[in-house]
Amino acid sequence: MHQFAYSAAHDLRDPLRNISLATSLIYEKFKAKDYDEIEDLLKRLLHTASYGGSLVKNLLDYSAANREMKMELVCLNDVVTQTITVLNTLIEQAEAKIVLKKLPTVWGNNQQLQIVFQNVISNAIRYRGDLPLIISISTQRKKSLWVISIKDNGPGVPEEFKDEIFQPFKRLSAKASGRSSGLGLSICRRIIEQHGGEIWLDTQSGPGACFKFTLQKG
Ligand SMILES: Nc1ncnc2c1ncn2[C@@H]1O[C@H](COP(=O)(O)OP(=O)(O)OP(=O)(O)O)[C@@H](O)[C@H]1O
Ligand SMILES: [Mg+2]
Repeated sequence: MHQFAYSAAHDLRDPLRNISLATSLIYEKFKAKDYDEIEDLLKRLLHTASYGGSLVKNLLDYSAANREMKMELVCLNDVVTQTITVLNTLIEQAEAKIVLKKLPTVWGNNQQLQIVFQNVISNAIRYRGDLPLIISISTQRKKSLWVISIKDNGPGVPEEFKDEIFQPFKRLSAKASGRSSGLGLSICRRIIEQHGGEIWLDTQSGPGACFKFTLQKG
């Protein structure tokens, strides 16, 4: 936990530095009535502030996932529909197609499960390749469990990193470096484990990344 707090603080320091620098530049230019670069500086300021915001949100999700949560019957179709609504613009901009099989009812916490889908789907979008992106979500029954699969047709994750990507602050791709915190999948793992399930990267299912997790039948 100590290391976690340290890394989190470290990750927030640069964006905060950036925000304070941009703000003082804007202030100076404003005083000097030099308006040329102000718009660009404001855009950069907004971008960094929103990055900081998402970092904090992830940290809060991460620590919320440490607390006890209310379990109930949850319809996964509803969870995925809500997630798609939240990510609407991102999905549209990426021209991503989401193929959805009918999903079951499980035992879980709606909001926490939405965080899982949000992270895995936004990863598929962020790390997509050159092919038109298709994300397929399906389920398979396994005794008293459901196995949920979220598969994309992007470049995938090299097999040797299949466990490491679930570590906090681990990121592989150059696309990840600027605006990501490397927390998403560790948040997912914590949430699924609190549901009594497991989450893993299935490297047997062909090209692209395929994330699978188990949940108790509802
Ligand atoms: N669908 C995917 N395709 C290819 N690589 C992926 C995919 N999902 C995750 N990865 C790799 O795994 C790393 C860890 O993912 P994770 O979601 O934990 O962190 P992040 O996306 O870098 O940051 P954050 O989710 O906190 O914004 C990513 O940086 C990326 O390199
Ligand atoms: Mg992520």
